[in-house]
Amino acid sequence: MINVEQSVRERYSQGARQRQQALCCPVDYDRELLELLPAEIIERDYGCGDPSRYVRDGDVVLDLGSGGGKICYMAAQLAGASGRVIGVDMNDDMLALARRHQSGMAERLGGDRVRFHKGYIQDLALDVEALDNWLANHPVQDAAGYEAMRQWQLQQRRDAPMIADASVDLVISNCVLNLVADSDKAQLVQEIFRVLKPGGRIAIADIVSDRPATAAMKQDAELWSGCISGAFTESGLLDSFIAAGFQAVMFDNWDAQAWRVVGDIEFRSVTLTAIRPPAENLAAGNRQLMYRGPFAAVTDDAGRHWLRGQRISVAAAVHQSLVSAYGNAFIDLPDTTTGNHQGSPLPIACCGPEPTRGGCC
Ligand SMILES: C[S@@+](CC[C@H](N)C(=O)[O-])C[C@H]1O[C@@H](n2cnc3c(N)ncnc32)[C@H](O)[C@@H]1O
Repeated sequence: MINVEQSVRERYSQGARQRQQALCCPVDYDRELLELLPAEIIERDYGCGDPSRYVRDGDVVLDLGSGGGKICYMAAQLAGASGRVIGVDMNDDMLALARRHQSGMAERLGGDRVRFHKGYIQDLALDVEALDNWLANHPVQDAAGYEAMRQWQLQQRRDAPMIADASVDLVISNCVLNLVADSDKAQLVQEIFRVLKPGGRIAIADIVSDRPATAAMKQDAELWSGCISGAFTESGLLDSFIAAGFQAVMFDNWDAQAWRVVGDIEFRSVTLTAIRPPAENLAAGNRQLMYRGPFAAVTDDAGRHWLRGQRISVAAAVHQSLVSAYGNAFIDLPDTTTGNHQGSPLPIACCGPEPTRGGCC
């Protein structure tokens, strides 16, 4: 059985030192954002999409598998002075490349708002650099030492998590989820959910396949580290995020052109967007929305039914997340009392399992 982590680590250590052409997927980044970046970061680009374009002013952004830091430094320009960006990567050579330019980039950005952490994206509570330091002083030599390390990790996760619960506005990632072992993928998606604030967003660019990779492909280290063997299937990616509790789950981008075809399986770049649902009581309404169409009715990932053209009252937090997640699908109705888009109390809408003309979400 191959060791996925080791093959990925070795491949991307090489990639940090020297550009690996086979790992590159052409991406049309915003050239203006690239202008501030050092050449060696731009050239060691192993992404397959551009999740930086989803960053908004003031966001706390978490980039999973930040590599040389390209997306983090682009995101920092969009998050602005009140935002900040955290990159997480497990690879020392990639972290060294990203950190080498940290102070220079802080000067160019006009603020030191990017941090890089060593960690596994499927275990975002554990700071692996802190673990390395602990192990330097407490080398594990026997079962008792192993148990001491385990207890230390439990305490770290609880008392000093690398990424705290509900602390991030936007989780982004560029071509990394496919590199995580299949047995860790459910935990990875749960971790993304955990660190997001209620109402927080994701924008994940990744490689997906139209059918599952074969057993032989799963045993091929080169295909694993090359973003092929561990790719989610299209439906598998959507289902995993829905199962973890995400809503408004969709392919915001789905490349018509396959990036690679292996055997007869197509692998292509997609960008998945979704939100962690807001915590507020969904039944309490003081804002109004209308589903625009073109379908007669739709059901969202929360099980709410929306009839075309019907005015629906929703809580302010739900309103904000629906408008931000579904964008153009809804008409944001002006407040009936003030005529602007700031909410005033409206009758509480009922919520039912079936669409009814009586009207509720
Ligand atoms: C294909 S590169 C993408 C790098 C970067 N996102 C970009 O756009 O250039 C994958 C990166 O993810 C990191 N990586 C892979 N699996 C990881 C894991 N389980 N936890 C943390 N980092 C991981 C690798 O070390 C590598 O830097």
